[in-house]
Amino acid sequence: MKKVVVLTGAGISAESGISTFRDSNGLWENHDIMEVASPEGWNQNPQLVLDFYNKRRQQLKEVKPNAAHFALKELEAQYDVHIITQNVDDLHERAGSSKVLHLHGELLKARSTDDSGVILEWKEDLNLGDLCPNQQQLRPHIVWFGEDVPEMEPAMEFVSEADLLLVVGTSLQVYPAAGLLHYASPQTPTWYVDPQPVLIENKRLTVIAEKASIGVPQVVSQLLYNDF
Ligand code: APR
Repeated sequence: MKKVVVLTGAGISAESGISTFRDSNGLWENHDIMEVASPEGWNQNPQLVLDFYNKRRQQLKEVKPNAAHFALKELEAQYDVHIITQNVDDLHERAGSSKVLHLHGELLKARSTDDSGVILEWKEDLNLGDLCPNQQQLRPHIVWFGEDVPEMEPAMEFVSEADLLLVVGTSLQVYPAAGLLHYASPQTPTWYVDPQPVLIENKRLTVIAEKASIGVPQVVSQLLYNDF
């Protein structure tokens, strides 16, 4: 089976009702991004950070995968599909995709604030006083600005082995994720679905300037009915 590697960003979940980051002028639900998504923010006001992610976790219960998420699941009928997502929602999993790598963490997990590496499933509110088995405070399992991105290694390997790359709904502004495309061979055909695409340097690039719910099913039908 040919390997399709899909890099998704906030845009793929926009039509499910989850707002993107850059579209809100650096404010994220009225917060400075650094207040709620950095180790400094956590040290200054952990309650604010917990409240912020508790709201996001509650919001997840009200949203559903859209046609773009479901189309990527359909692609598995004929391709070995690896999704690398910058999103912390679980909409790819809920649409049925089987291989999903979360570069920036997952809303439905919590991890210890010590270095034990303990990661727990966490579906409800996370509060001060919620402790890991080592009696340390738990925090959202989110990669904040300035933190390492442990999943970059496997992500780079997937990209370097891809027969085709599909990029969906990302402004490619945040590194190291944005640098992933450089690990593909220059011969790898790359498709990019985004209503406001940024410039990607690639000789074999096809840009589809559409919303994900329109553009992704188009790409998927092309790949299912005509090879590439
Ligand atoms: N369909 C597809 N793309 C869309 C749609 C849509 N319906 N609506 C908006 N977009 C596109 C925008 O044009 C933009 O290019 O989605 C992209 C969203 O960009 P960002 O908000 O920057 O999101 P993303 O690239 O995922 O951000 C990366 O930044 O804040 C951090 O950790 C956070 O994972 C996030 C990372």
